[in-house]
Amino acid sequence: MLLETAVLLAAAGLSTTRAFVLPKRDRSDFYQIGTQEHIFPYLAGAGPYFSYPENYGIPVDPPKECKITQVQLLARHGERYPTKSRGKKLLNTWNTLQKYPHEFNGSLAFINDDYEFFIQNMDDLEMETTTQNSINAINPYTGEMDAKKHAQQFLAQYEEFLEDNREFAVFAASSQRVHDTAQYFIDSLGDKFNISLQVVSEEPSAGANTLSPGYSCPAWNPDEYADIIDAFSTDFLKDIATRMNKENHGLNLTKSDAENLFSWCAYELNARGFSEICNLFTPEELIRYSYYDDLSSYYEDGPGYPMIQAVGANYLNASVKLLKESDDLDQKVWLSFTHDTDILNYLTTLGLFDDDKDLDPSTVPFRNHVFHKSWMIPQGARVYTQKYQCKNDSYIRYVVNDAVIPLENCSDGPGFSCEAEEFYDYANQRMEGQNFFEACNTSSVSNTTELTFFWDWNTTQYNATLLQE
Ligand SMILES: *[C@@H]1O[C@H](CO)[C@@H](O)[C@H](O)[C@H]1NC(C)=O
Ligand SMILES: *[C@@H]1O[C@H](CO)[C@@H](O)[C@H](O)[C@H]1NC(C)=O
Ligand SMILES: *[C@@H]1O[C@H](CO)[C@@H](O)[C@H](O)[C@H]1NC(C)=O
Ligand SMILES: *[C@@H]1O[C@H](CO)[C@@H](O)[C@H](O)[C@H]1NC(C)=O
Ligand SMILES: *[C@@H]1O[C@H](CO)[C@@H](O)[C@H](O)[C@H]1NC(C)=O
Ligand SMILES: *[C@@H]1O[C@H](CO)[C@@H](O)[C@H](O)[C@H]1NC(C)=O
Ligand SMILES: *[C@@H]1O[C@H](CO)[C@@H](O)[C@H](O)[C@H]1NC(C)=O
Ligand SMILES: *[C@@H]1O[C@H](CO)[C@@H](O)[C@H](O)[C@H]1NC(C)=O
Ligand SMILES: *[C@@H]1O[C@H](CO)[C@@H](O)[C@H](O)[C@H]1NC(C)=O
Ligand SMILES: *[C@@H]1O[C@H](CO)[C@@H](O)[C@H](O)[C@H]1NC(C)=O
Repeated sequence: MLLETAVLLAAAGLSTTRAFVLPKRDRSDFYQIGTQEHIFPYLAGAGPYFSYPENYGIPVDPPKECKITQVQLLARHGERYPTKSRGKKLLNTWNTLQKYPHEFNGSLAFINDDYEFFIQNMDDLEMETTTQNSINAINPYTGEMDAKKHAQQFLAQYEEFLEDNREFAVFAASSQRVHDTAQYFIDSLGDKFNISLQVVSEEPSAGANTLSPGYSCPAWNPDEYADIIDAFSTDFLKDIATRMNKENHGLNLTKSDAENLFSWCAYELNARGFSEICNLFTPEELIRYSYYDDLSSYYEDGPGYPMIQAVGANYLNASVKLLKESDDLDQKVWLSFTHDTDILNYLTTLGLFDDDKDLDPSTVPFRNHVFHKSWMIPQGARVYTQKYQCKNDSYIRYVVNDAVIPLENCSDGPGFSCEAEEFYDYANQRMEGQNFFEACNTSSVSNTTELTFFWDWNTTQYNATLLQE
């Protein structure tokens, strides 16, 4: 239908725009887009958004007799191109393939057929994928679409609550793609809302007044537990390289090329909607890759690295303060946008996915495995805090990527929520003894010891310079 229309329009000389005359590749993608969604959870959170897979069946709307009194959101930017450093690695692997002097055999044979590499403009690196910069006009997985759709879901879900709350500030870390996600979200809410976008600096000098405490944390050392992460067997990567090399005599893909293929798959999905590269992996390889990423994140940015408790306390502390003050604050809707690791740090301090059992590098665990990083912070991740009142009492609970995730230690309230006073005790316990500024040695980069933007945005106006990183 779409193609016939395009042919007719072109014949009539009416349109030559890309949206109507699909290039050859778009045409074949048209039938393949959507066939790879089952692998999104295995792509280390780099591929397109997906809802939390283990939904317990708890309705996202609070029980009927309850009334929402405050909503907070901490969201990740949407689907994007690779970072500059990752992009460079992918280009290296692509160059190795391009230099191969023969036709490809077997699973790489698609490259012979006019394959176009999905990074065509280096300026796209670090950026959100959009309808404009997608290499395929029919790509449904752009960060832009994701943010706009998310805003529509937010409107639909909180419709009644938002009737009386149409004027508020939205907060974004100062990375271009984070800002863009917030802006697409705001645009999609429409002109019934009066929203002030506050861009909060993510430079180290912002200190504690930030949505991205990881950047203000010079003491954070991603290699602190490298020995545990390195104990995980990466033979599966060697196997992939060996398989490709066997199919194609004289091709010398390495283990790190094999690792790059996974992110190639993920980012090509974000930019094009479909990726032949994704079909190179066996289900077992996807599972191993995914767990390798869980393990790394667990010991770099999660519960396996004790310092993270202090990093995540910076936002959790502010979030709890907003919850406590909800009756007094005019603003009832607190939407913030940032990076994946910052959300992970916060979830770690909150303890939403912490079962006190450290991830084991010697094997891939199944039953005892709560910490699935990609399920928590895929591109476009969205962690909602709901505060609602039922009869005379207030309750708190969390909705992560469309699924209500009860606090394991406090879920007696309506809708498996936690009664507010009990929740404040719980949060205090989780933050006890944690001091972001000290643990991170933040004083070496900033004198700002407190997160204040939620309370002083109307007098300060946060307009930090956007960073292309
Ligand atoms: C792969 O490595 C072999 C042995 O070092 C070398 O002869 C061959 O040229 C390499 N192939 C390519 C495509 O670089
Ligand atoms: C929008 O909100 C700002 C405060 O952020 C306020 O100064 C302004 O008057 C509002 N505009 C409208 C049209 O309500
Ligand atoms: C903290 O910062 C100071 C000054 O830059 C530095 O000398 C010290 O080594 C740092 N400590 C840690 C634990 O990073
Ligand atoms: C491709 O596969 C065919 C048949 O298996 C084989 O004859 C040929 O040598 C292979 N080509 C390369 C470059 O490996
Ligand atoms: C839940 O409570 C148990 C027992 O007090 C405690 O060991 C555990 O750390 C708590 N879990 C969280 C996530 O706080
Ligand atoms: C709710 O609070 C009101 C006013 O504080 C009080 O009169 C009423 O008895 C309370 N109801 C319940 C069910 O606790
Ligand atoms: C939480 O914020 C208050 C100031 O509002 C501060 O006194 C306290 O130290 C903070 N706690 C943590 C764990 O950051
Ligand atoms: C902190 O404040 C002191 C005193 O005003 C100043 O000398 C120092 O440079 C500041 N440090 C940073 C990292 O901004
Ligand atoms: C700024 O917001 C705070 C907290 O909502 C409020 O108390 C204060 O009156 C506002 N100030 C101005 C100048 O609007
Ligand atoms: C932010 O606003 C202040 C005050 O209006 C202005 O001085 C400053 O240059 C602005 N900064 C940026 C990065 O636009």
